[in-house]
Amino acid sequence: MFQNNLLAGRTIFLTGGGTGLGRSMALRTAGLGAKLFLVGRREDPLRETAETIRAAGGVCGYATADVRDFVAVEAAVAAAERELGSVDTLVNNAAGNFIARTEKISPNAFAAVVGIVLHGTFHCTQALGRKWIAAGKPGTVLNIVTTYAAANCGSGYVVPSAAAKAGVLAMTRSLAVEWARYNIRLNAIAPGPFPTEGAWSRLMPSKEFEEHTRRTHPMKRFGKHEELANLAAFLLSDAAGYINGECVVIDGAQWLRGAGEFNDLADLPDSVWELMESARKTGGK
Ligand code: COA
Repeated sequence: MFQNNLLAGRTIFLTGGGTGLGRSMALRTAGLGAKLFLVGRREDPLRETAETIRAAGGVCGYATADVRDFVAVEAAVAAAERELGSVDTLVNNAAGNFIARTEKISPNAFAAVVGIVLHGTFHCTQALGRKWIAAGKPGTVLNIVTTYAAANCGSGYVVPSAAAKAGVLAMTRSLAVEWARYNIRLNAIAPGPFPTEGAWSRLMPSKEFEEHTRRTHPMKRFGKHEELANLAAFLLSDAAGYINGECVVIDGAQWLRGAGEFNDLADLPDSVWELMESARKTGGK
């Protein structure tokens, strides 16, 4: 569907790029011609992903940084520019999350998640946005949020994440308008369940819960990484040049399944439907 040079000429600064969906987006966008600069807290996964991209003929640098630290983010941006030249594209993918009963978590636990997700996204967006505005150059930003932010419904048991991701979505839409005059485009993707080591180990308390999630999913399956990576590539590309301030849900209709009043009827066996249908035809006789 995409031409191999779709993102040629682009340099992408991608946070949380060593693992999970960040890694998948890095590999896909590099395969479409973009130069990548990966940022994360742990060096090993960054190096591994960068080596994989280089082995496939791509260009990739990396730096360790905690996005909660604005000075570290600025240093990572400077390192990216030294290695790859100016950066024109940002993917705010780094996240922190865990499941917990909210009354049990500490202020520091709340701050850790909000710091990574909301402050981290702001830090990277502002550090690069300032440069683009000063240089009079266009920029593209993609923020990875979640369905419970996109649907404005929040979610129990992940309250720091729900609050932070809702903030990121508000920031996406606010800046899409504020920075449109500078030719800076901001969009978001709201993924549903995509298996990753990081998310699964923190958010799936048991095999049974995983099975329950799959069983109650309208499509009876989880997302595939390439499905999300392709959406990211499209939204980042110039083909999406007039899409600004949008949040695209990619969850196989999972959140709608929970929202519609009668959707639990999906669990009704065919035999019960048939009984009801024949009762209607015979007028209940
Ligand atoms: N339940 C309740 N509190 C938790 C917790 C959990 N499962 N995991 C961590 N915390 C608390 C810690 O106890 C600590 O609070 P305290 O100092 O009052 O004890 C606070 O959160 C920070 O934890 P710490 O491990 O020191 O911080 P960190 O900055 O290294 O970790 C997290 C941040 C907690 C978000 C961690 O899960 C993380 O690093 N996540 C990154 C990857 C990720 O979450 N990926 C999934 C995305 S869907």
